[in-house]
Amino acid sequence: MTARFYIVGNWKMNQKLEDINNFFKDLGDLGNERQYEAWLAPQAIHLTTLLEKANALNIQIGSQNISDNDSGAHTGEISPSSLIDAGGSFTLIGHSERRSIYKESNDFINRKTLLSLEKGLTVIFCCGETLEEREKGMTESVVAYQIEEGLKDIPSNLREKVIVAYEPVWAIGTGKTASPEQAEEVHLFIRSKLTELWDGTLSHKVPLLYGGSVKPANVEGLLIKPNIDGALVGGASLKGADFRALCDAADKRSKLPGQLQG
Ligand code: PGA
Repeated sequence: MTARFYIVGNWKMNQKLEDINNFFKDLGDLGNERQYEAWLAPQAIHLTTLLEKANALNIQIGSQNISDNDSGAHTGEISPSSLIDAGGSFTLIGHSERRSIYKESNDFINRKTLLSLEKGLTVIFCCGETLEEREKGMTESVVAYQIEEGLKDIPSNLREKVIVAYEPVWAIGTGKTASPEQAEEVHLFIRSKLTELWDGTLSHKVPLLYGGSVKPANVEGLLIKPNIDGALVGGASLKGADFRALCDAADKRSKLPGQLQG
């Protein structure tokens, strides 16, 4: 992956057709000379609704969830190959809502990750600690375990399709953002963990996104940190004008000298 900055909208179970149309009206044209990526993860049922509009704006579309099987008797699941067929290029995996509400285990998350990568998708692998874990000083051990288990056995040729999103559970949808310093500290730790896990191969190039109450008012302070390569955004990605403001911040950041990865 060559772009250094990413703005990824996770629409969760929101956005009716009318909201989607308004979103694109308000978003406007993002321009072609971008040095950052703008991606959207709508509800699966709207993937193809968005595709044409997104393609025209050079926005990649992906899913919020994915199966650990590619076809067959798995009622209600999303097949990686079918996602690609439908024009999707990436999937979120291990989002805290899937871990907590739907009880997804690290092992299950790992199987989804391996299959998705093998089928050609980019994986945005989510990890992060709860408030209780942070208060007990367990942030690093929790994140380390999620990464060790969730990203194990990825062949070296597929590692470049992995993006890691650090999303502290206490900051998701709560209006409480981690401070840029708190986020940078964990991102640095994640980078060192990836270096250890992957023998240094590529780990310095893995985009590390921060997620949890990111909005236009706080995104610049986060993106300025050396190990924060973008944002995974829920609530503030639903309105075209807000998503636009996030993209503008990434655009501004990407034009600061020396920001393209080699
Ligand atoms: P939020 O959600 O921006 O609404 O906090 C982020 C996420 O869950 O990915």
